[in-house]
Amino acid sequence: EWSGHIQAALVAFFVFLFCLEARLWAKNLKRRLPGPFAWPVVGNAMQLGQMPHITFSKLAKKYGNVYQIRLGCSDIVVLNGDRVIRQALIQHSTEFAGRPNFVSFQTVSGGKGMTFSSYSKRWKMHRKIAQSTIRAFSSANSQTKENFEQQIAAEATELVEVFLKLSARGQHFNPEHELTVAAANVICALCFGKRYGHDDAEFRELLHRVNMFGQTVGAGSLVDVMPWLQSFPNPVRSMFKSFKTPQQFVQLKLKEHRETFDPKVTRDMSDAIISVLDRSASEYGLTKDNAEGTVSDLIGAGLDTVSTALHWMLLLLVKHPQLQHKLQQLIDQVVGRNRLPSVGDRSSLAYLDAFIYETMRFTSFVPVTIPHSTTSDVTIEGLRIPKDTVVFINQWSVNHDSLMWTDPHVFDPSRFLDEQGSLNRDLASNVMIFSAGKRRCIGTQIAKAEIFLFLAILLHQCSFERSAGEEPSLDCSYGLTLKPLDYRITAKLRGKLLKSP
Ligand code: HEM
Repeated sequence: EWSGHIQAALVAFFVFLFCLEARLWAKNLKRRLPGPFAWPVVGNAMQLGQMPHITFSKLAKKYGNVYQIRLGCSDIVVLNGDRVIRQALIQHSTEFAGRPNFVSFQTVSGGKGMTFSSYSKRWKMHRKIAQSTIRAFSSANSQTKENFEQQIAAEATELVEVFLKLSARGQHFNPEHELTVAAANVICALCFGKRYGHDDAEFRELLHRVNMFGQTVGAGSLVDVMPWLQSFPNPVRSMFKSFKTPQQFVQLKLKEHRETFDPKVTRDMSDAIISVLDRSASEYGLTKDNAEGTVSDLIGAGLDTVSTALHWMLLLLVKHPQLQHKLQQLIDQVVGRNRLPSVGDRSSLAYLDAFIYETMRFTSFVPVTIPHSTTSDVTIEGLRIPKDTVVFINQWSVNHDSLMWTDPHVFDPSRFLDEQGSLNRDLASNVMIFSAGKRRCIGTQIAKAEIFLFLAILLHQCSFERSAGEEPSLDCSYGLTLKPLDYRITAKLRGKLLKSP
């Protein structure tokens, strides 16, 4: 008798699911946007593959640069190619400035951050506060500029020493962790006035968790489009729980800052943010808790991105030893061997800048921006996209658009140099890695300064080599950032070891 009831209940359940799907299919058929057929329940999730940005570009060849896919229960518009993406993000900047209300976005800083909040008057104020804090500690005047540069240089010289230690007796090592610590220390010094040792176990664990978050919430993350996955035990749910640790870390730091706060002395970015938000948050429609959210935004955004950029650069340097040699010769010629390179040398090191731009273009290591959503109905390429639609922006497709770049799949820094050997700034501005429009990255200037100085100091002080017989692969893992797979290098000191002043 029981089995009869269970059978009937199961049949009823499947009929219900079938009807639900049939409704969704019917709705799907009425869609105005082109796009691939979406399967029941999963939509196009199974078609994304290991590298969704490449799949998005392939789909663009078939359906055009604006098309629709379905992931779980969300209809998503994917934008591809330079022209369409700039048209959307720049000409229709307000319409494309929203953020979807994804579960992972609400988890970060309890929804109190700026990065994952949707477009509103309050968000605009929040972004302004974050932007002016960054400026105040990196470029507001010559003194802050100098302090900021010195911090990077100190971190870079420490990194040189760590690399040389790990290379003792010709050993090879994976530089990923050390690069993450170095980049994290720059942003932690700005935010908390404190740096951490490369061997600090607690810091190591914290960085690991931030990294896991980035790997899980890249565009195409299943838990966001199938929120019911959270109800079952699965690796993504455990990751959500583990993300509490970085939040607690920031909370603890801000508690310490509030306890020792002196309105006459602004020690670091946390003090600056506390002093604005604790005193007058309500003026901006924000609350005190937004201070924790803002600091978490800066730590989260400034850590994984810069270290991933450097991780790719070291890989490309060992893959192209002649290019590495050419960069070192240029640095020696401009800087000499008795002092370390500085940001002031940048205008004379065009080839190094060209190498940085080409790495950003070629690897497109932030392949798809943080997902956007539309704040009102909008028409792109004659296709109407309704308000509150989730939008994926395929930056990789801009950097590999054959209408913009000759041989986009070839790594060639010299494409950014003009006949005089200077950096072609117009071409460099076509590289899209920091996004564009209202949501463009607010850390662009500090990220560029960091990458330049780290790289110039590393190349001035060391030569990098790969293991004999091991050709480093350009394959990578997908997430908010694309990360190179495990590779090993060794560092050799070039002449005298210099310390930053
Ligand atoms: C090479 C390094 C970096 C890259 C490639 C990068 C790239 C990006 C990208 C693609 C976005 C998303 C834009 C969008 O959704 O359209 C973003 C947002 C953001 N970035 Fe960066 N970023 C880098 C470094 C930094 C640094 C160092 C900071 C600050 C310390 C920072 C702070 C932010 C913030 C706060 C946002 C959110 C902006 C918003 O939602 O309005 N980034 N970044």
